[in-house]
Amino acid sequence: MYSVALIERQNVARARFHNMKNIIISIQGGRPLAGRVAVSGAKNAALPELAAVCLSPGPLAFSNLPLVEDIKVMVAALREIGAEGELDGPLGEGRVEARTDGLQGHTIRVAMPALRSPRVSRQTTQTTRASILLLGPLLARCGEARVSMPGGCPIGERKIDFHLQGLELMGAEIRSEEDYLTARCRRLRGIEYEFPGKSVTGTENLLMAAALAEGTTVLRNCALEPEVDDLAALLRKMGAAISSPEAGTFIIHGRTSLHGADHAIIPDRIEAGTYLIAGCLAGNDIIVEGVEPAHLGCLLDILAGMGADVRIGAGEFQARGGATLAPAAVVTEPYPGFPTDLQAQLTTLLTQAEGVSRVRETIFNDRFRHVGELNRLGADIEVRGDEALIRGRARLHGAVIKTTDLRASAALVLGGLVATGETRIENSYQLFRGYENMPEKLQKLGAAITITQE
Ligand code: EPU
Repeated sequence: MYSVALIERQNVARARFHNMKNIIISIQGGRPLAGRVAVSGAKNAALPELAAVCLSPGPLAFSNLPLVEDIKVMVAALREIGAEGELDGPLGEGRVEARTDGLQGHTIRVAMPALRSPRVSRQTTQTTRASILLLGPLLARCGEARVSMPGGCPIGERKIDFHLQGLELMGAEIRSEEDYLTARCRRLRGIEYEFPGKSVTGTENLLMAAALAEGTTVLRNCALEPEVDDLAALLRKMGAAISSPEAGTFIIHGRTSLHGADHAIIPDRIEAGTYLIAGCLAGNDIIVEGVEPAHLGCLLDILAGMGADVRIGAGEFQARGGATLAPAAVVTEPYPGFPTDLQAQLTTLLTQAEGVSRVRETIFNDRFRHVGELNRLGADIEVRGDEALIRGRARLHGAVIKTTDLRASAALVLGGLVATGETRIENSYQLFRGYENMPEKLQKLGAAITITQE
């Protein structure tokens, strides 16, 4: 059993280690993958749900927690402002979860009985988007917040103007100074706000703020991602009055206080999609289990159109490689469209299709950094503005490559699995921000994958 203080120490140690040392993933490609792989809880649901700890003194007990680096950062931030809790300890009725892949599903019980300080240091959160998700809950609970400007993957411009606009309309005064956002308010008040564009964390921030605001808030043009719905479900369990008369609209009647709750985090659809693609690339016969197929409708449609050998069962996918794949034309869109977080991984698969595929990225303006590295592996991909043209089928071969962001890392690992010979992926720590035990999970499927540090 770990205490939350211990997670914080581990996290700080790992963060320092990241700055100094290069983590290298080495893969001997060409091995067929077979067996079962269990999907962890969704990182992008767990992040706002942990931020919701700030909204009430009562404990929140989560099961299916993915213990990835971004989550450790969020836990460290909570700890810094006064949270107490236990990881993998007795959790009400919950307990450490047994999983068929032999790895452990994590549980956490965490409470914020009193906020020690509403200030989160830049050192703690600089690598993630965690800090921005704390702004709304901290303002709502104590009328004050100081958080660092959010970091996260270098995938292009990542604006936060909707978050700030919404909170200002609710009565907050927000200043930006020296990489920090400082905000103050009396009690936040309910507003009617239509998001000018879809924002996942923007919707989550305002939902949490509105849960404790005075009066009623109506949010329109909200993000439809399953992670947003999972947060709304948690907030309701905490006593928030949230209804959704139609998709994309939330009506929140603010409460004066919320209470603790137990919650099982939804499966990570992006991790599930990544292993499904791995199965289509290199699967002898792999089963991806603990998935919610409804969350991946768009990817499943694309794979079906390509002629991939995929079967959908109850809570699981079965995938085999070896099929002749047709090319595809794909555009990233907010949910339920094709997720930008699977764009890089699908691009790797499209290098194996017979013909020219097109992938257009509409969410982020710099999310093709994996392309140059895939080309080093022998892919033939050309980027023209917001579109990548992928000419297949390419015979991938091992090379020394470098990763720049979380999902690019996964795409390069997938490339390494099908490339002949050895692929060395440098700067690989990004992978561990969002994929729980990926090397171990792939090893269990038969991949020859090792991690070293230099
Ligand atoms: N945008 C604005 N103004 C805002 C907010 C967003 O113009 O105030 C723009 C952004 O610049 C971007 C688009 O809207 O072009 C979408 O941004 P969004 O706010 O939805 O992204 P996010 O909330 O920062 C989350 C995920 C990302 C995922 C995106 C899109 C979390 C913690 N992060 O980011 O996940 O790519 O939604 O689905 O939920 C990842 O896991 O690898 C990852 C990057």
